[in-house]
Amino acid sequence: MNLTREENEMLAGKHGVTREKFMRILLSLGECYDAEEMIPVSSAHILYSLTALGKGGSLLIQDIASSGAKFSINTHTNPTVMDPILWKDLGVLEDRAQEQAALASALKNMGAMLSDTCTPYLIGHIPLIGEHVAWSESSAIVFANSVLGARTNREGGPSALAAALTGRVPRYGYHLDENRYGDLKIKVTAKMESAHDYGTLGFFAGKMAQDKVPVFVGISPPVSLDCLKLLGAAAATSGSVALFHVLGVTPEAQTEKAAFGRKKIGNSQTVEFGGKELRETEETLCKATDREVDLVVFGCPHASIIELREIAELIAGRKVKTGVELWICTSKVIKAYAVAAGYVQILETSGARIISDTCPVLMSGGVGKGPCPKTIATDSAKLVSYISLYAAAKGQEILPYYGSHQRCVEAGISGMWR
Ligand code: F3S
Repeated sequence: MNLTREENEMLAGKHGVTREKFMRILLSLGECYDAEEMIPVSSAHILYSLTALGKGGSLLIQDIASSGAKFSINTHTNPTVMDPILWKDLGVLEDRAQEQAALASALKNMGAMLSDTCTPYLIGHIPLIGEHVAWSESSAIVFANSVLGARTNREGGPSALAAALTGRVPRYGYHLDENRYGDLKIKVTAKMESAHDYGTLGFFAGKMAQDKVPVFVGISPPVSLDCLKLLGAAAATSGSVALFHVLGVTPEAQTEKAAFGRKKIGNSQTVEFGGKELRETEETLCKATDREVDLVVFGCPHASIIELREIAELIAGRKVKTGVELWICTSKVIKAYAVAAGYVQILETSGARIISDTCPVLMSGGVGKGPCPKTIATDSAKLVSYISLYAAAKGQEILPYYGSHQRCVEAGISGMWR
C-alpha cells in the first residue's frame, strides 16, 4: 500500500508502540482487500460492552489505556451492559458492573466520549455527506452510510479501535464511489402506515439483499428519521446490509441514475414489497401465541426524543399492568432531554421505565430482575431477532410479539397481545 510519511512513521513506532501495532493491523486489513492507500477518518464508534468484548477484549483495552495511548480522533461508544442508575435493580451483577465501569474509565482516559448509545447520530455525532468515518454497530453503520451519506465499512471491535488510535482506515469497500451504487431494486407498493412497517420492510429487504445495496422505490417523501432508523437496523439484521438508498429521500439517491450509477437493473434484480409481503414478514417476526405479555421494549436502536414523546402521549394517564414491565431504551442524553420535556415523568407515573446506555440484548444476567420473561412485545425487528438468540444462548426461550407503538403500549397496559 502507498503510505504517507506520517503513516510510515506510525508503522516504524515513532508514534508509540500501540499505534505501531494497530497500524500493522490496518495494513494487513488493507492488503486483504487490495486497498491502495489509507484514508483519514474523522470519527470512530467503538464497542465496549462486556457482552461484545468478552474477557480478552476487556483486558486488551485496559492494557492499551495503561500504556498511556490516546485516541487521535473523535471517538464515541456503543451501549454497555448496564444502566448507570438502575443496573442493580435490573439484575446486573456487582462484579460485571465494576468491570464495565473500569473499562469506561480506561476509555475516558484515552479520550473517548462515553456516549454509550447505538444512535450516536441522535446526540450530535453527525458525519456529513462524503465524510469518511470508522463506525462499528450495524444499525449505526447503515444509518451513517444511507441516511447521512457518510462513508464507513462495517467495522468490528478491533478495526474501529485501530481507526480511533491512528485516525486511518484502508480505502476499500463503502469508502469507494463504485461500491455505493444500488444492486437490487425493491418496489414498495405496500401501504406504509407506521414506523414499524419500515422495520418490516427492512427485514424483508435484508433477506433479499444480504450484502448487496438495496434501493427502495415507490416510497413518497417525507420519511421520518425514526422510520429510516428502524428500516436500516432491520436490514442489517436479516442481511448484512451496510448501505441502502430510498429514491428521492436519501442523499445519494435523488434520481435513479444517482442511485444505480451505470448498473442496468433488470427483472431478476427487482422484487416487490406489497401488502402480502408486509403481512408475511410481520407474521414471521411475531412468534408468540399465548397472548400474555411479560415485557414490552421500545428503543432498539435507542429511542429518539420523538419516539419518547409518542409513547408518553399514548400512555399518559394510564398504568402498566402489575407484573408487566415496559421499558424504553435510550441514551443518557436523550433521557435528560425527555426529563426536561416532561415525558419521563409521564412515563414513570404510568409505571414505564426509561433505561439508558444499555438494552436487553447487552444486559447480562437475564433480562431484568427475577425470572427471564417468556414473552416480549416490541416494535423492533432487530430486537425480535437478537433477543431470541440471546435467550437461546442461555438455554432459555423468549417468544416475541412484534407490532406498532400503539399495539405494544396496549400490550403493556392490558398484559395481552391483541
Ligand atoms: Fe442498540 Fe441494543 Fe438494539 S445496542 S441496536 S438497542 S440490540
